[in-house]
Amino acid sequence: MSSTAARSGYSAVSIALHWLMALLILGNLAGGFVLGGLLDSPDPADRQLGFRLVQLHKSSGLLVLVLALVRLLVRLVEGFAPYPAHMTATERTLARLTHLGFYLLMIGLPLAGWVMVSSSPLGFPTLWFGLFEWPHLPTGTDKALSEQAGEVHELLAYGAIALLLLHVGAALKHHWFDRDEVLARMLPRVGRP
Ligand code: HEM
Ligand code: HEM
Repeated sequence: MSSTAARSGYSAVSIALHWLMALLILGNLAGGFVLGGLLDSPDPADRQLGFRLVQLHKSSGLLVLVLALVRLLVRLVEGFAPYPAHMTATERTLARLTHLGFYLLMIGLPLAGWVMVSSSPLGFPTLWFGLFEWPHLPTGTDKALSEQAGEVHELLAYGAIALLLLHVGAALKHHWFDRDEVLARMLPRVGRP
């Protein structure tokens, strides 16, 4: 990759945020689906593990929320990297919409989770990575609201999976079929000029 291409790509901060958040989100998607089974298990050891996993899930999900706000600021300041000339107007619009969708999800998904636990009649606290108690939103106890937020949370999680499939498919198409630099410029710069 030429140095010109590197300059027209993403900053180290953007790249670090992209991959750290991708790991956190993928972990939370997988963990979220495992959670339900563990919490409903008749085995107390499974339920105990489920409770520990919920704390980890909530902590990393709230970290995603904070990082998403930082990332939004970084993106507004830096702007997006320009697209390769071969991309059609439709492809560019689709790429922008996917990225916009991710920003909405990175904020909306954890926010729905936060509303769900804040309004839950169960009233469990959120211990952020065991360090301090993360405050609840001032929703008060509201079973109906908690259930609705839970449904939105689940729906958005499916939306994230759909968008992710599209996104990864597009990244691999750029790399293997179009043979452009779109994937390369989002990879960590270790060992590159
Ligand atoms: C990137 C952020 C997040 C992702 C991708 C994510 C994903 C998921 C998924 C896929 C599930 C299983 C489907 C469901 O039952 O809804 C789930 C469940 C759950 N999530 Fe999240 N979540 C995130 C953030 C949060 C946050 C910030 C909280 C709370 C502060 C939270 C609280 C919960 C709880 C309590 C459940 C279990 C619901 C139940 O089984 O009744 N999540 N999450
Ligand atoms: C949940 C996981 C992921 C999320 C939320 C996500 C989100 C995003 C967002 C919002 C952008 C726009 C640039 C930015 O604002 O940082 C982006 C760019 C990019 N992502 Fe992801 N991504 C995820 C996973 C992946 C994976 C697994 C791959 C690799 C196969 C990938 C490859 C790329 C590439 C190549 C770009 C640059 C596209 C361009 O320059 O227009 N992403 N991603």
